[in-house]
Amino acid sequence: MDRDQLIDLTRRALKLARDKTTDLAPGQHTVDARDYTSAERHHRDRALMLASPQLVGYVSELPGPGSYCTKTVMGRSILMTRAADGVVRAFENVCLHRQSQVATGCGTAKRFTCPYHAWTYDNTGKLVGLPGREGFPEMTIRSDGLTELPAAEFGGFLWVGLDKDATLDVAAHLGPLADELDSWGIGRWSPLGEKVLDAPINWKLAVDTFAENYHFATVHRQTFATIARSNCTVFDSYGPHHRLIFPLNTILELENVPEEQWDPFHNMVVIYALFPNIVLSVTIANGELFRIYPGDEPGRSITVHQNSTPLDLSEESVATGAQAVFDYAHATVRDEDYRLVEGLQANLSSGARDHLVFGRNEPGLQHRHLAWARALSESAAGG
Ligand code: FES
Ligand SMILES: [Fe+2]
Repeated sequence: MDRDQLIDLTRRALKLARDKTTDLAPGQHTVDARDYTSAERHHRDRALMLASPQLVGYVSELPGPGSYCTKTVMGRSILMTRAADGVVRAFENVCLHRQSQVATGCGTAKRFTCPYHAWTYDNTGKLVGLPGREGFPEMTIRSDGLTELPAAEFGGFLWVGLDKDATLDVAAHLGPLADELDSWGIGRWSPLGEKVLDAPINWKLAVDTFAENYHFATVHRQTFATIARSNCTVFDSYGPHHRLIFPLNTILELENVPEEQWDPFHNMVVIYALFPNIVLSVTIANGELFRIYPGDEPGRSITVHQNSTPLDLSEESVATGAQAVFDYAHATVRDEDYRLVEGLQANLSSGARDHLVFGRNEPGLQHRHLAWARALSESAAGG
């Protein structure tokens, strides 16, 4: 993001903070409780996920030719590689023999030998080794291979399509946000690993926790609210995506400082809500990524939390410090947000009330739900 844009956002955030207000949606918005609980909606949500480009990580997770990583997306294990040609590819991480996972974790490897019977694949997915060949007269070396999925690197991130026959057009998906996301560089920062939350909440309830800071003063009183303002958000939407600016408490100190001297990124957290299930949180020191997936039933979801840092992790004390920051952020989401909304899921499932209300001060929440509803109605109409 260029400085003019950052200054402009800072001006808007400072004005909201000074006026003790927030960007507001035109009106209140009501959502049906069954959106979070019905099996029918759950199936449609899962179909929406399969039809949408999926951001699955940072390009820095595949730093050079010969690197690989594995990802779990909606229960599917995916192997991603960067081969000698520099191209990022994705495969179902499923052996052609009896469906073992052929690779785990991440690292550097030109070949992947299945841990079960040692069938071996190269990093373009081709089957290159098959012990006991005479047992499998119908298999062809270098012609058979792992099932390939559409894959791309774009905007600093790794993307896959879960439908092997569909085209993956991430540029069209991101629209005008593409350059802005790329400009932060967070996808090229050093990755700090993945932490997984298997939670008894609908995936949309998980996404909702990131869509407003109205709850900071209560839920995060001892944590985030000590550094960031509550109920104070700059909101902008970009088609089905949106961006929130959460001002830090220090923003009011800019009041008497000339704009040329502002260091705008020291006074805000930038949150991107990417359709349909991705949250990115960008600060000067952390590029957090939350990939939130529907689980096996409406009341369950899987959140994969990643973080990247611009710091040089080759120094041990720096690496330890970066991990501690990641641990802290993760514990806050797990113990404050997700723990609390477990109670919402129980209430929604009980049928005690048939709807929820989103306020004018929760434009991000409204926007997320309107974008999902629009996509579902378009897919129902066959569009
Ligand atoms: S399942 Fe992979 S070699 Fe047997
Ligand atoms: Fe929160």
